[in-house]
Amino acid sequence: MYTGLLHTHTLVVSLFLLLYLIKTVLLYLKPALLEPFGRKTRIAEIIVSTLFLLTGIGLALQTPSVQVGVWFWVKLLAVFASIPLAVIGFRRANKGMALLSLLLILYSWGISETRSPRMKKSDYFENLGPHKALEGVKAIRDSTIAGKALNDNVSQGKALYTFYCVACHGSDGALGVAGAKNLVHSTLDRDATKSFIRKGKNAMPGFGTDVLSDPELDAVVAFLKAKMAVHQHPH
Ligand code: HEC
Repeated sequence: MYTGLLHTHTLVVSLFLLLYLIKTVLLYLKPALLEPFGRKTRIAEIIVSTLFLLTGIGLALQTPSVQVGVWFWVKLLAVFASIPLAVIGFRRANKGMALLSLLLILYSWGISETRSPRMKKSDYFENLGPHKALEGVKAIRDSTIAGKALNDNVSQGKALYTFYCVACHGSDGALGVAGAKNLVHSTLDRDATKSFIRKGKNAMPGFGTDVLSDPELDAVVAFLKAKMAVHQHPH
């Protein structure tokens, strides 16, 4: 359900942006065409804007409070500030207002992508977990940076999991926020699990190698396989 909504929302938002962009370009380059274009696309625009709002509300309702940081409210503010600006801007052919509105929408898209008002992806990852768990993560990071081998993969993995994953998967792996699978029932093997965590999918952000280093990814996978997965794999 969440994943379906997410895909619809992404599609609808892209269409919305496209319409917006065309109208702004017309306003600047061919203002005479703006009115006929607006008339032809009116129905489409009403449908797209309505779906934009409905899917957005639907997603917001299913996102748990842990996931809704400052970025979420800044994004809402940007979206809701841009709408009246666009309506008035296009109606009065006011270039400044239309441009400001487009910039606000682009900004809110940037916030969504990074989940950070500064559009810095690392902000989101640094705020995922509870603050006291961050100390454990720092200790692991320091020892990894110092080049020391992770001497206890499973407990290091647990500390990383507690900080980065619990918000969506819960401490038992079964929380299932935002369409998250129950990790206990995961049938992915070690390699597939590792690459899944690295790349992410749908509502799950990719942890790359910039958020979790390669040995850290191994530690998380070791923890998942040792403590969670009921399907044990030979490799
Ligand atoms: C923002 C929420 C979120 C966070 C944070 C998150 N996940 Fe996920 N995770 C998901 C969602 C949603 C899916 C399902 C993705 C899909 O297949 O559409 C998922 C799927 C997975 C899967 C695949 C399970 C399967 O068998 O298909 C694994 C493994 C996993 N997550 C591990 C992790 C680990 C480890 C972390 C922390 C490093 C983490 N996740 C952090 C949301 C999250």
